[in-house]
Amino acid sequence: MRPLWKLDQTLPAGSPFDAGARHDVVIVGAGLTGLSTAVMLARAGMDVAVVEAGQVAELASGGNTGKLSLLQGTQLATIRRHHPASLVRAYVDANRAGMDWLLGFADTAGITYTRRTDHTYAQSAQGMRAVSEQHAAAREAGLDARLLRQHELSTTFPAAGAVALEGQVAIDPVAVAHALATEFLAGGGTLHTGVRVTGAHALPDGRIETEAGPLFGEHIVLATGTPILDRGLYFSKVQGMRSSCVAFRVPGGVPDGTFISADGPTRSIRPVSPADGPGDTAQLVVGGNGHPVGRSDGETAAIEDLVSWTRLHFPDAEETHRWSAQDYQSHNLIPFVGALPRGLGRIRIATGYAKWGLSNAPAAALRLTEEIIGTRRSDRPSWMIRLGTRLTVPADLARGAVEGAKVAAAATKGWVEAEGRPVPVPRPGEGEGVVANRGGRPVGISTVDGVTRAVSAVCTHLGGVLDWNDAECTWDCPLHASRFAADGTRIEGPALRDLPEVSRTSDR
Ligand SMILES: Cc1cc2nc3c(=O)[nH]c(=O)nc-3n(C[C@H](O)[C@H](O)[C@H](O)COP(=O)(O)OP(=O)(O)OC[C@H]3O[C@@H](n4cnc5c(N)ncnc54)[C@H](O)[C@@H]3O)c2cc1C
Ligand code: FES
Repeated sequence: MRPLWKLDQTLPAGSPFDAGARHDVVIVGAGLTGLSTAVMLARAGMDVAVVEAGQVAELASGGNTGKLSLLQGTQLATIRRHHPASLVRAYVDANRAGMDWLLGFADTAGITYTRRTDHTYAQSAQGMRAVSEQHAAAREAGLDARLLRQHELSTTFPAAGAVALEGQVAIDPVAVAHALATEFLAGGGTLHTGVRVTGAHALPDGRIETEAGPLFGEHIVLATGTPILDRGLYFSKVQGMRSSCVAFRVPGGVPDGTFISADGPTRSIRPVSPADGPGDTAQLVVGGNGHPVGRSDGETAAIEDLVSWTRLHFPDAEETHRWSAQDYQSHNLIPFVGALPRGLGRIRIATGYAKWGLSNAPAAALRLTEEIIGTRRSDRPSWMIRLGTRLTVPADLARGAVEGAKVAAAATKGWVEAEGRPVPVPRPGEGEGVVANRGGRPVGISTVDGVTRAVSAVCTHLGGVLDWNDAECTWDCPLHASRFAADGTRIEGPALRDLPEVSRTSDR
């Protein structure tokens, strides 16, 4: 599994780690949030260090579909159903500011992109209601969105109608992330890659702990997707959603605009040209079939379903890449950006972009930057004030409670299922994994590349029993979306420690 975007791109080299070093700001995470915040703060004259467990754009920022759009599927209608019109408008204004910043950056950095009409479309007549609601919410928020009837759409896939917004953007997200890292380093910024952060503290000084030693910062930004600190319980206020994408070469031609379905199963369609992606031929990315992390009936089947759908509607499509990634949806539908409770205003987070981070991440960065450099509140744009003062409404609590119940059910189910399958169990086939019970403890046994391993199948965050992801050969947590490689190495999520390996001598 490998995303289309990483082709032929050289990763910017990191800086040598200097344990105990002091910076104005330490940012954890080199995705779009961390890097755009780093560039903005560095441009404002601050000494910034970015610490990244993997490589630049390792996770969601390197695995998205590269649509930079203010229309955003059914997002505006969904927010409007639960919040006043003024909040939807502030959300759109924030995304417009993020989009403008990102495109300004791309222009300066010489990254090309294309303007395309973005569509939220109905796959069937039943989906038209959601399309109409999105149209109404978009218009109310000041967007010049148009309703298109079936006969006005010339798609090769079924579309009963759509809401369309012209002038949106297709861009290579990894090219953007690499250019951000390049500018940051060229301006004297410090970037540590391959260094996992294991803790953050506000007292006595702002400090992060890493596997290579501590770093100190007047301010700390956790740009890690879901926050890696349990303080404020944000891991339980967002839901990690994993989706897949498949890239194809399509000799017969690709659609002119970008599309995402309003009704299920989700289909996200993104044409790629040499001006807005890697390579020198036109391609098509089809994404969708999202599910809460660790709660899928089969990741490979979900990807194969995307492939079958594409072959049906683009018969000459030839698969070139497939990949998956996850992003977080906040229970109150608006990203969480700002200071963590009990962090003395020193520790900040940004998460909850619901798969619309290309504009939400730079918008969050703009907000974090204003807060850190201390711009007077009255000098900040009105969207920042509005989004910064929103209240939790009863529906947010209800959504949180529903997800809380699902998490509780998943927690119980994992332990019960493991209990019913005592070791020894047959050795899993290549690419397979199974959770079994050894002496009351769930053990994850898998075979990958011919190597059979056993690891503890209990998540190192808060004890969820892990689920095997058969497409990526990983152990995924159904509670708060942490993921681990087959050998137990932590990949992402609120868990900070690896899974311990355990002996597999009692397996068959
Ligand atoms: C399938 C999919 C398609 C999408 N398509 C689009 C799209 O078309 N348009 C759009 O606008 N948005 C899209 N998105 C959303 C977008 O990709 C994300 O919102 C955005 O990339 C989030 O950026 P981020 O920097 O906050 O998080 P990430 O990119 O996940 O970065 C977080 C970084 O933190 C690092 N990290 C985590 N923990 C630690 C630790 N303990 N120590 C050190 N480093 C750590 C990680 O390694 C990672 O690099 C999509 C998302 C998905 C999943
Ligand atoms: S991520 Fe919280 S228990 Fe696994």
